[in-house]
Amino acid sequence: MSRILITSALPYINGIKHLGNLVGSQLPADLYARYCRARGHEVLFLCATDEHGTPAELAAAKAAMPVDAYCAQMHRTQAKLAAGFRLSFDHFGRSSSPQNHRLTQYFAGRLAENGFISEVSEKMVYSPADGRFLPDRYIEGTCPNCGYDKARGDQCENCTKQLDPTDLLEPRSAISGSTDLEVRETKHLYLRQSELKDELDAWIDSKSDWPVLTTSIAKKWLHDGDGLQDRGITRDLNWGIAVRKGEEDWPGMEGKVFYVWFDAPIEYIACAAEWAEAQGKDEEDWWRWWRTDAGAGDVRYVQFMGKDNVPFHTLSFPSTLIGSRDPWKLVDYIKSFNYLNYDGGQFSTSQGRGIFQDQALDILPADYWRWWLLSNAPETSDSEFTWEKFQAGVNKDLADVLGNFVSRVTKFCRSKFGEEIPAGGEVTPEGAKLIADLDARLAAYNGHMEAIEVRKAAAELRAIWVAGNEFLQTAAPWTSFKTDPERAAADVRLALNLIRVYAVISAPFIPDASAKLLESMQTDVTDWPESMGPALEVLAPGHGFAVPDTLFAKITDEQREEWESSYAGTRG
Ligand code: 2FM
Ligand code: ZN
Repeated sequence: MSRILITSALPYINGIKHLGNLVGSQLPADLYARYCRARGHEVLFLCATDEHGTPAELAAAKAAMPVDAYCAQMHRTQAKLAAGFRLSFDHFGRSSSPQNHRLTQYFAGRLAENGFISEVSEKMVYSPADGRFLPDRYIEGTCPNCGYDKARGDQCENCTKQLDPTDLLEPRSAISGSTDLEVRETKHLYLRQSELKDELDAWIDSKSDWPVLTTSIAKKWLHDGDGLQDRGITRDLNWGIAVRKGEEDWPGMEGKVFYVWFDAPIEYIACAAEWAEAQGKDEEDWWRWWRTDAGAGDVRYVQFMGKDNVPFHTLSFPSTLIGSRDPWKLVDYIKSFNYLNYDGGQFSTSQGRGIFQDQALDILPADYWRWWLLSNAPETSDSEFTWEKFQAGVNKDLADVLGNFVSRVTKFCRSKFGEEIPAGGEVTPEGAKLIADLDARLAAYNGHMEAIEVRKAAAELRAIWVAGNEFLQTAAPWTSFKTDPERAAADVRLALNLIRVYAVISAPFIPDASAKLLESMQTDVTDWPESMGPALEVLAPGHGFAVPDTLFAKITDEQREEWESSYAGTRG
């Protein structure tokens, strides 16, 4: 048994997330966490809401709520949806937690002590009417390129041109509308990542098993153009973690907060502290996951994220950890994902395009989504959600293959032998072939799950379900029953046992269906099968079972058409 620390990229607090966000980090992380637990490892699976920065402030303003109240409410909403999708976090924290405030300030202090922070004077737009500096996106004006009068200081939404606030014609504050804007000098902190370039390079070189997607992005940032740039880690915002050097004030930094991308990954650590506190545990209980001087040397740390997050996790966050010169645990493996597209375009939170977590759960239970999304995860390239593909995948894999197997076996047994595992007969040649086949497939399935090859694992699991159906077809107990009931009993006994095995090994993908199967097989034996022979004898003759209700209902063409048109537009 080993210890495995798993984190999923932290979803922004600025609204309900879409299915692309889900499949790009939280869902595969959950799959892996469930698998590792099932294999007997000690797992700590952490996630949290990423609550700072302009997106949070803007979303709160749009909702006409104070930002802290908005974040608290949206955290509850996201936690509820995560539970709805059966995401098995050990803790779902908040980057605005007191633990993260303390740790972020602590890291900034350590980095400063070690010479990895520089103070840089910059000219920025100040609004006397608002009493604050304005970040680029808080400045509006007319686009010099297309004349759009609500262009933002970072980009024109109308013609997509990248802008500087000074490019805007008739600039005004997006908060108050004031046109009385001035350029003032202000100081900001920079993380001197460039000083750590060689250490980062060597560390990334040591990760020969990382997915190409992960290392290629990291290497590009390290070597392309002028190489790794120092990064501004403070902002002039009201909402965020106050800039302090550990517990001390930071002269000249009054009223400033840390940049959201500085404090968000530190929440991975703070979340463990939150988890420990919530459990009534001590500091040493979370240090054993995070500090190599407290036992974390034995931990395998795996992170899950979309490809856009890779630079922050391969360069910026490691710079924070390495630059602290404390023995913090660094990530061992980064699993990154491409994008899931929606019906010929992109999922988009800001445009409300696609299908969002609450909508998905309103129309179908979690397992339908989990299965389809994971079996189509955008691993080696972007993948696409269409309602047609979704309908086909669900109907074929879940209803026709798995559901049908369970229904045929249990109903046939009930009608011929009653609702208990039948006695009599010996493993038939078809049964022996199935066992051998499943042993090989299970080994492949385990291998893909360990390597976090999500689509390959799903394909192997599907093949394992298919093997059950094929066995039933060839063994045909409904025929043998007429001439050789003992033989039929042996095959049915094997098939009923296979339902239990399916429940166990499918649980990481479809936990609710798995629980339902275990309930109908009236068993709580959930040990991961080592070898199929013994695993398929766990339910002994005479053990009762019940025919379950339909495991997965097929998606009809009418439903598909209805959903296709209801979710074609954008969400307000
Ligand atoms: O891209 C995103 O959704 C970010 N909120 C991910 C943050 S991951 C971590 F570093 F906090
Ligand atoms: Zn424009």
